[in-house]
Amino acid sequence: MQQQLVEKFQELFGNGGDIRFYFSPGRVNLIGEHTDYNGGHVFPCALTIGTYGVARKREDRKIRLYSENFSKMGVIETSLDDLVYRDSAGWTNYPKGIVWTFQKKGYPVETGFDMLMYGNIPNGSGLSSSASVELLMGIILKDLFGYEELSMINLALIGQYGENNFNGMNCGIMDQFAIAMGKKEHAIFLDTQNLQYEYAPIHMNGYKIVIAASNKKRRLTDSKYNERRAECEEALKDIQGVKNVQALGELTEEEFEQVKDAIKNPVCQKRAKHAVYENQRTIKAVKALKNNDLETFGKLMNESHVSLRDDYEVTGKELDTLVEAAWKQGGVIGSRMTGAGFGGCTVSIVKEDAVDVFIKNVGEIYKKEIGYGADFYVVEIGDGTRRIA
Ligand code: GLA
Repeated sequence: MQQQLVEKFQELFGNGGDIRFYFSPGRVNLIGEHTDYNGGHVFPCALTIGTYGVARKREDRKIRLYSENFSKMGVIETSLDDLVYRDSAGWTNYPKGIVWTFQKKGYPVETGFDMLMYGNIPNGSGLSSSASVELLMGIILKDLFGYEELSMINLALIGQYGENNFNGMNCGIMDQFAIAMGKKEHAIFLDTQNLQYEYAPIHMNGYKIVIAASNKKRRLTDSKYNERRAECEEALKDIQGVKNVQALGELTEEEFEQVKDAIKNPVCQKRAKHAVYENQRTIKAVKALKNNDLETFGKLMNESHVSLRDDYEVTGKELDTLVEAAWKQGGVIGSRMTGAGFGGCTVSIVKEDAVDVFIKNVGEIYKKEIGYGADFYVVEIGDGTRRIA
């Protein structure tokens, strides 16, 4: 892989100079959905699939970008003097947003660079290919321009800042944090209120993590996501009229039940209920995992999906079909949608010897109900963003 990508880089951008090679993973969230902008907990892990990058500094102010995944677009040339979001700029808005954030946050990028990328995260699958690219750009800039003092958590925050303020998607910190801080065979139990985190070993002895990509075209994801976020903020404001809290994640289920009538809009009340209960479910799920109680973990995953379906309303027919079909299969510990929703993918924990039948059966039901196929990936938990050579 490395040699092939470096050769392509040289073919496009010429030989010589200090050419470096990097990797940034994708992520999957096991439980704790739509809690990260509510001061709650999340439990994601980085994957062994992700985005590879080859880069070299230039002496002028040009930035030349090429993605093997969008090879038809060819080399896209921009410059340090043109860091502006444009719809027509497609995928390059993500790396550009990171250069822009470095400049803005006091880490000047003094010269341009050439960069080639190749990602093996299925496009639009909901495994966070965009955050993977953001962190890839972050590690490249940190490394090429010598910003040793930037920690991986700093890079995650830079990634989120770029996505929020350059790309206009008001995401929380989960994706960038999981990708930056990923650790092989571990998931990350992160408190998004204060960024305290703990690595939890995931012993998958006899089990596999199976991702099902719905292949639904996602159009309104960003605007719907931002709408959910605003609904939670409105609910919090109403609660603050009767109780002193900074975030929905501070509330237990009982506390929520006591104050919920303060939330005037019934839709906002449902959204807030999800945020509070999902946060508590995540805490319980990690506890169960520590006790090797995979069954309870799976049950909580299923409850998470029901809450995302009924109260948060971010699942849709495609994800519901995949999950409901998964629940009916033998050897399934738990199954739920993962990521933002509205399309994207589901995550299931399946007994190793049941995986083939699971994929066949769920695939057939999906195709019959939805009219087109889903794609399945058996994934492994890997390390976070890093320079390889
Ligand atoms: C997207 C966002 C995350 C998080 C999830 C939902 O992946 O980027 O910050 O909010 O949705 O849990």
